Amino acid sequence: MAKFDTLIKNGTVASESGVVRQDVAIKDGRIAALGENLGEAAETIGATGLLVLPGGIDSHVHIAQASAPGIVMADDFESATRSAAFGGNTLVMPFCMQEKGKGLRQALKEYHAKAAGQCYVDTSFHLVISDPSESVLGQELPALVADGYTSFKIFMTYEALKLNDREILEVLSVARETGALVMVHAENDDAIRFLTERLERAGKTKPAAHALSRPIVVEREATHRAISLAELIDVPVMIVHVSNRQSMEEIARAQGRGLKVYGETCPQYLLLTEQDLEGQDMEGAKHVCSPPPRDEASQAACWEGLEQGIFAVFSSDHCPFRYEDTAGKLHPRGRQSFRFVPNGIPGVETRLPILFSEGVKKGRISLERFVELTSTNHAKTYGLYPRKGTIAVGSDADIVLWDAERRVTISRAVLHDACDYTPYEGREVTGWPVLTMVRGRVVVRDGKLMGAKGFGQHLPRERSPFAAPLGRLVTEFEPAGRLG
Ligand code: URP
Ligand code: ZN
Ligand code: ZN
Repeated sequence: MAKFDTLIKNGTVASESGVVRQDVAIKDGRIAALGENLGEAAETIGATGLLVLPGGIDSHVHIAQASAPGIVMADDFESATRSAAFGGNTLVMPFCMQEKGKGLRQALKEYHAKAAGQCYVDTSFHLVISDPSESVLGQELPALVADGYTSFKIFMTYEALKLNDREILEVLSVARETGALVMVHAENDDAIRFLTERLERAGKTKPAAHALSRPIVVEREATHRAISLAELIDVPVMIVHVSNRQSMEEIARAQGRGLKVYGETCPQYLLLTEQDLEGQDMEGAKHVCSPPPRDEASQAACWEGLEQGIFAVFSSDHCPFRYEDTAGKLHPRGRQSFRFVPNGIPGVETRLPILFSEGVKKGRISLERFVELTSTNHAKTYGLYPRKGTIAVGSDADIVLWDAERRVTISRAVLHDACDYTPYEGREVTGWPVLTMVRGRVVVRDGKLMGAKGFGQHLPRERSPFAAPLGRLVTEFEPAGRLG
């Protein structure tokens, strides 16, 4: 009998710490050996001329999430995880969203039911806390963190989701007590509502006004406030989907002061600008997301954040709504005002090619940094390392074979999600995944789906060291408990 199940031969293996020509041997879904002349395997996959990368981990995706009445997200778990696999991802982290008035256990039951038997790649839910009631804070969250749901997202905007500062402090306290990591959507909702009403009164109701209703200062102020509240409690925090220099500098300043403040940016902030919200009729709706895309100077700032390590992770914020659909971007109310256009754009399949092409190929980031930003740091930040996010003996065999020279013109026709457009239509990228393997099983090979629906598992996670408090209090009084 062969010693290994699979041997990936003659590839160039890239991890966060180096790039080496070596073979990868796989047994029982895990990486069993690395090196040369490893021995026989039942199956050999040739990787000459290809990069062998840890599978992409996208720690910020929205799948089958409940939206406003009459609005339906384009992707269910089947189509989103299929698209993720074609894009070189082996794990995605969607949100399980609590609805106000309901409990988190109830929400988890519903989201697990939607995902059950549907996924091509592994998944792990973050919890969105929209209603931090006493029972949620005191009972549900501590029990759920113990069950492996070790990250929460909170929102400072959106009517149905936003928390006030007091509520944010309560959630941050629970995070400190339980060892969970809090992700923050930082935009000042009162300012947005004020601006939205004024814009509407001035007749500015088209999608382009979305950017005017959420200017940089709105994001920068909320970023500063979220960091300050986290500092007050002495708890780490992740600021997600950062779009501009001022917000990034808030994060960098906090990091400079030694605080455990992390940042995330996304492809839309590297490639799109607010001009993409213009266009004929409602075309701009295709690019409505929050925070909105900014300008070229903001794009340059986001690149700096990626290059300099201010951002720990690069995620897609995949949040797809069909365009030609009255339950999507063309909901009739969206024609009355931009405020009713659903926020979010697709991107789970194009995240890796965009960063590789614009980042590695153009010499902005190294291959090692690419691996960190798209895989390793997601696993480390959210309590899955070293099981996920690296090519090392003992880790899950989540592997992508990457053709660094393949040129692809991104278009709707080459993608596999259930949306009817891509914000990156017509853009050429160099570098494309040619094989995606999850726990030793090939899911996509040469543009063909090989995996079985339902093979993807939901993963409970450890508490991440990234979430451990610093132990630095702002006064001698400790307002929130510490993990014992
Ligand atoms: O516009 C966006 N980003 N929609 C997704 C929801 C969120 O805030 O992440
Ligand atoms: Zn958000
Ligand atoms: Zn999001």
